[in-house]
Amino acid sequence: AAAEKGGWSSFMAKEVSEEPEAVANTIRGRIHDSAVVIPELDGLDELFAGTERILVIACGTAAYAGQVGKYALEKWARVPVDVELAHEFRYRDPVLSAGTLVVSISQSGETMDTLMAVKYARERGAKTLSICNTQGATIPRESDAVVYTHAGPEVAVASTKAFVAQITALYLLALHIARVRDSISAADQARHVAELEAVPAKIAHILEHEQERTTQLAHWMADTRSVLFLGRHVGFPIALEGALKLKEISYIHAEGFAAGELKHGPIALIEPGQPVFVIVPSPRESSLLHDKVVSNIQEIRARGARVIVIAEAGDAAVLPFADEVLRIPLAGPMFEALLAVVPLHIFAMGLATARGLDVDQPRNLAKSVTVE
Ligand code: G6P
Repeated sequence: AAAEKGGWSSFMAKEVSEEPEAVANTIRGRIHDSAVVIPELDGLDELFAGTERILVIACGTAAYAGQVGKYALEKWARVPVDVELAHEFRYRDPVLSAGTLVVSISQSGETMDTLMAVKYARERGAKTLSICNTQGATIPRESDAVVYTHAGPEVAVASTKAFVAQITALYLLALHIARVRDSISAADQARHVAELEAVPAKIAHILEHEQERTTQLAHWMADTRSVLFLGRHVGFPIALEGALKLKEISYIHAEGFAAGELKHGPIALIEPGQPVFVIVPSPRESSLLHDKVVSNIQEIRARGARVIVIAEAGDAAVLPFADEVLRIPLAGPMFEALLAVVPLHIFAMGLATARGLDVDQPRNLAKSVTVE
């Protein structure tokens, strides 16, 4: 096993280090003349032109990737999107029509809850598209179309590189559909393509420059009993994913919230010393969202929270209110999701390691849940 880990202390550490390639390999062969053209979706233009609604179904981390993808699919392809947990979808007599495109997301392609939901949707006349990391798995075989993520085999139970590859595939799908539906200009398409292509180097930059500090922070926090995560826009599902990762491998209570929801309840949880991660949107791209999140930070700081901020390089507005600042490179509004999650993966791994836990094989969990 040591050889398989290629010198890394765990599969998870190896797989986090492979996040840049996971994104790059998922993009490869899918860009032509500064526009997204996914060869596997050739011949489906009519389907995409007639799509009235997209329903994303998945479980666990894949469902959070779906929630991130919703922002891009709606913004760029201008199709209404709902994201639903596969096991909830199937048992509530959902409304489906021929204009519904069901997009399933699964790393393994074998998750029984997701598979059953895909079959159910197909039997009721919806078209199904699978985003999957495992060639020839059951879910892609049961779907009308498939867009593979090329993250490579993922061994650690907690998903990391597959998650960034899933978001990448969803952004590619959104841009492919946007091109077919002509819902964004060629210039915007090219701008987003350039942003996407720049992501692998930016993730590599975070791994190189923030890994040590983030791991150190995790070690200092080894005895923490609860950690909260706040985010807005695509930062919201990233906050949920940051919390899930911590629960899965460090067994610490963790919860993610939409930053705007703070005043509607979660702020009651803030007491002196409570660690809170806050994912801050770029001030260049949306000063409105940025300023709202900065004021959330002020509110929790005033109540004694220990604030760990994930913010764009150069964002000085967060400095007076943050106990720790983890920096991510500059990126467009959708793309910061792919960057902000990286320190959260490193943090969860560092904290589990500091607690002496097996990060690859957390208790009670299986990599692929093949029972309903
Ligand atoms: C299990 C794993 C999770 C994973 C989920 C969905 O619960 O422990 O890490 O996110 O299944 O798996 P899938 O293979 O469908 O992406």
